Amino acid sequence: MMKTEEPTSENSETDFIRVAQVDEVPAGKGRVFKVLGKSVALFNVAGCFYAINNICPHEGGPLAKGRVKGHVVSCPWHDLQFDVRNGFGTEGGGYCVASYEVRVDGDQICISLRRRGI
Ligand code: FES
Repeated sequence: MMKTEEPTSENSETDFIRVAQVDEVPAGKGRVFKVLGKSVALFNVAGCFYAINNICPHEGGPLAKGRVKGHVVSCPWHDLQFDVRNGFGTEGGGYCVASYEVRVDGDQICISLRRRGI
């Protein structure tokens, strides 16, 4: 079983790090969190939580601030779109971002930087 941890300097990318309470990330919205120094965008889609790299691979736009429609977030800078479930760009062009595992323990949302399997 995976460990759930408060962030420390000794955490590894396979640990689940507590980042927020479920009521801190409203449905249809994204929030950004630092996880082991990495900027991670966390989204709530109809009560399910998904985490991807916050930094858009085009020119670095903050994906957590993008508009969310269904499972797709649009980058606020130039509107490239990504599926929050897997980080894949939805318009081709080869753009994608890392997606990370999310676990909800009670009312706590935890993220592991271990990349999600597709
Ligand atoms: S920086 Fe995200 S689309 Fe350009």
